[in-house]
Amino acid sequence: MTFDLATASNHLASTSQEWWRSAVIYQVYPRSFSDSNGDGIGDLPGITARLDSLATLGIDAVWLSPFMRSPQKDAGYDVSDYKDVDPLFGNLADFDAMVARAHELGLRILVDLVPNHTSDQHRWFQDALIEIEGSAERDFYHFKDGRGLNGELPPNNWLSLFGGPAWTRITNPDGTAGQWYLHLFDSSQPDLNWANPKVQEAFEDILKFWLDRGVDGFRVDQPHAMAKAEGLPDHPDVERAGAGFIEGEASPPMWFQEEVHPIFRKWRKILDSYDGDRAMCGEAYVLPLTFMAKWVRPDEFNQTFNFRFLNSDWNAKTLFDNINESFEAFDGVGAPSTWVLNNHDVLRHASRFGGLNIKPTDSDGVGPNDPQPDRELGLRRARGATLMMLALPGSSYLYQGEELGLPEHTTLAPEFRQDPTFARTNGARVGRDGCRVPLPWEAGVGAANGFNQTGKSWLPQPDIYAEYSRDQQDGVEGSTLELYKHALKVRKELALGEGSFEWVNEFVGEKVLGFRNGDILVVHNFGHAPIELPAGQIIASSLHQMTNGHPLVADQTVWLRLVVA
Ligand code: NOJ
Ligand code: CA
Repeated sequence: MTFDLATASNHLASTSQEWWRSAVIYQVYPRSFSDSNGDGIGDLPGITARLDSLATLGIDAVWLSPFMRSPQKDAGYDVSDYKDVDPLFGNLADFDAMVARAHELGLRILVDLVPNHTSDQHRWFQDALIEIEGSAERDFYHFKDGRGLNGELPPNNWLSLFGGPAWTRITNPDGTAGQWYLHLFDSSQPDLNWANPKVQEAFEDILKFWLDRGVDGFRVDQPHAMAKAEGLPDHPDVERAGAGFIEGEASPPMWFQEEVHPIFRKWRKILDSYDGDRAMCGEAYVLPLTFMAKWVRPDEFNQTFNFRFLNSDWNAKTLFDNINESFEAFDGVGAPSTWVLNNHDVLRHASRFGGLNIKPTDSDGVGPNDPQPDRELGLRRARGATLMMLALPGSSYLYQGEELGLPEHTTLAPEFRQDPTFARTNGARVGRDGCRVPLPWEAGVGAANGFNQTGKSWLPQPDIYAEYSRDQQDGVEGSTLELYKHALKVRKELALGEGSFEWVNEFVGEKVLGFRNGDILVVHNFGHAPIELPAGQIIASSLHQMTNGHPLVADQTVWLRLVVA
């Protein structure tokens, strides 16, 4: 194991003032945040009513997962009207009220834009179904004739990321079997044809619709999938790569096609033509990060999610390499690195780090029949991981509930499962519901601990969630919530997000990682043996019992202000 400090990354403090370069952005998953009308599904008025708690937490911006009109086959990532709010969540007036309240509180709002695919209930797709082959309506999507004597085989070998083939055959209005349409996700999510200028225009219009309503930007879903290779050729390596790609090998025909970049340049121009500092973050799953960096060139996305960091095993060597790779790649194009440990697609980090060595990429959830993570160990490590992340310069993403130290719901019974992955794989992959369970706010208020007053809940909480409720942690010294609040406050006061980065040689090795951000030393203990720290003032610690002059114990992170001689 080599820690090559000679070639490791340094990062200079930022001189740019744009908010997104150092922002802490909190992801709200609307259906699980807070439910105002008691129907069991979180909604926009519920979010508005609880925005104060996010302002108190100390974040800068909120990214909302989709709340647009949708049949909810993939929890809203299947949009049937991009310019309306789904009645489940409220209406446009509720949205405006939410944005107004957020802005009053000094919080920015980013909305989720899903351009790779629509819902099959979208008018564009419904029109395409009734129109003839080769029509302008069909050209909004990828309709192709099947292979085989009677077109009974899918047009190519592509697979859906949710399992099964990426093609579904339609039935013509006269009852005969028709063409096939492409869906990289669920069959209810047909992929749009981005080579069609009309699709491009339609989305420019959608961007303006939300910008005019005052949003501060967008999180863009699956931007790396939008363009497909001409002619939709077979995936060259479906045996090994499945629906995905193998890093470092030639890219498959549905990922990272060059044609997407001019589209994002146009979008960036649109955002920049508005007042304020609007920003877009791409969920560009492109690795290595030197490739991802192309997506955040100065005239494209402002940010992309750092999936390398998200996918890191929690060990010193992997993190050392991944942090180096991050600074090298993003600094190379003048973009901030982002840092993220959780989102609505991966196992919560308090469970991921619970001793089972689960990677977000290969976990696909944990079910009642799987080995169960160690809750105490997981939380201890998750707290250490977060404290380390929040000291890294750049922008950090938090996912609702992690500030409570919420574990994944790992014992959710099959009858409650809603993620299409579960059904499409006959339960072989339990899917992502376990990280999407409604938040506990007040212990004992209804069966869902204050998520609403009725106790109804689209996914049931496990019993253990009561003890993680926000009211059980608010103002309680040593709680995870107070740790997050403290870290975010200090991060802001010391401008760590805009700060510099360099490894500290004596704290780099198999069992320890330490770096400096300005005059703050950040150290994490990956081993069991206590680690002596230099003289200084502890300004944050992931474990309650840390006081000045004590050694760093297992899984602990501290921020220490060095004593300048
Ligand atoms: C990525 C989103 O984060 C995920 O939740 C969704 O299922 C897919 N994109 C498809 O939109
Ligand atoms: Ca509701």
